[in-house]
Amino acid sequence: MSTIIEEVKAREILNSRGNPTIEVDIFTLDGFGRASAPSGASTGRAEAVPFPEGGVKEAVKKVEEAIAPEIIGLYADDQEEIDAILHEIDGTENFRNIGGNTAYAVSLAVADAAADSYGLHLYQYLGGSMNSCLPYPLGNVIGGGKHASGKATDIQEFLVLPLGAESFSAAVEANAAIHRKLKGVLGKLDASFTGGKGDEGAWAPNISNDEALEALSNVCQEVAEELGFESRVGVDVAASSLWDPEKELYVYKRDNVERDSGEQIEYILSLIEKYNLVYVEDPLREDDFEGFKELTSKAHGCLICGDDLFVTNVNRLRKGISIHAGNAIIIKMNQVGTLTDTWKATRLAQENGYVPVVSHRSGETEASHIAHLAVALNAPIIKTGVVGGERIAKLNELIRIEDDLGERARMASLKI
Ligand code: PGA
Ligand code: ZN
Repeated sequence: MSTIIEEVKAREILNSRGNPTIEVDIFTLDGFGRASAPSGASTGRAEAVPFPEGGVKEAVKKVEEAIAPEIIGLYADDQEEIDAILHEIDGTENFRNIGGNTAYAVSLAVADAAADSYGLHLYQYLGGSMNSCLPYPLGNVIGGGKHASGKATDIQEFLVLPLGAESFSAAVEANAAIHRKLKGVLGKLDASFTGGKGDEGAWAPNISNDEALEALSNVCQEVAEELGFESRVGVDVAASSLWDPEKELYVYKRDNVERDSGEQIEYILSLIEKYNLVYVEDPLREDDFEGFKELTSKAHGCLICGDDLFVTNVNRLRKGISIHAGNAIIIKMNQVGTLTDTWKATRLAQENGYVPVVSHRSGETEASHIAHLAVALNAPIIKTGVVGGERIAKLNELIRIEDDLGERARMASLKI
C-alpha cells in the first residue's frame, strides 16, 4: 500500500451557480483522490483570496507548473508537509498568489487520495476508526441577502436545526419536511411568490424578517408534532452585507429600517427572545469583535456564531476567544485554503468551548468532502442546505456514513 503521489492533474469545472471553479485529481501508486473548490458570495474581507489574478485558468496552470513538481514523489499522508509546501509556493498571508481555492482543491484531493490508498473512507482516515458521531444538519429554508435578487428578505438565511432528532436520517427528514411545508405557507404570505429559490435552495419570497420568522416557527411546531421531535430556528444575518460604512448603520432595505450598532444588538436580542432562536450567525459586521462580545454576554441559550468575523482563521479566533466574542465558529475550509489550517482552527475552537459548524458555501460543486470533514472533526453541526443536488450530495453522504457506522452511529453531543 503506497501513498506516494505519482501524478497531479487540474481542470476547470462549473459550480452550482454555473461559474468556473477548479478541480484537482491526485494519483498515488495505490489510490486516487479528487476535490473541487466551492465559492462564496457574501465573503469575509479577511478570507483567503479564492483565485490568482487570471482566474481559474491561471489556477490550473499554477497547479500543473508550480505545485505538481513540488509534491510528486511525496507521501499523500504527509498532509502537514504538503500544506506547508502550498504556503511556501504561495508566499503570501492570504494565498493571493496561487489562490485559496487552488490550495483547497490540492490539499483536500491529497487527503482523499491518501484515504483511498489505505482503502478507507475519508472520515475514517482523517478522524480515526473510533469516530462515530454524526452532526446535526443546519438547513437554510428561507433566504435573501446576497443569495437572491429583487425584494427578498434582508436577513440572508432563516435556518432550522432539528435538535430533537435521534439519527441523522431523521434530522434530514425534518428539515426536508419543513422546507416542503413552507412553500404553501409562503405562497399565502406573498401573492407574487413563484416558488423561487436563492443560491442555497432556500425559498426567496418578498416578506419581512418577522413574517419569515413567524412562518418558520409555526411550521417547525407543526413538523415537530408530526415527527415527534423538536426543531429550532436560527438565522445567518450576514450583517456585513447590511452595514453601510458611510452612514455607520445597518440598512434593512426590504424592511425599510436602519439600526446603529447598539440598536442592532437590541434587535438581535429581541429576535432571540421572541422566536426562541438557537443559532445566530454574523449578527454584527465582520470587525465588530466588541459588539459580538456584548451580544454573547447578553444572549442565553443561543449559539452566537462568527463566519465573516473569524473566517476559519486561528488569529482572528484567538482574538475572539480572548474577549469571549461569540461561542461558535463557521468552519469553511476555502476561507483558509488548507486542511491543516482548518484542523487547527477547529481544534482551537473545541479547546475553548466554541462550537465548530462545518459549512458549505453558496456556490458548491457536487463533491461531498465536507460531510466527511464534519464527522472527522467531530463537529456537532453541519450547515449545508436542504435541497438542490449539490446540497443533497453532502446530506446523502452523511446518510451513507450513518449507515456504514451501523450500531455505532450516534448524534454528536451538542450543549447550547
Ligand atoms: P457565502 O455565504 O458562501 O456566499 O459566503 C454563506 C454564509 O454567509 O454563510
Ligand atoms: Zn454566514
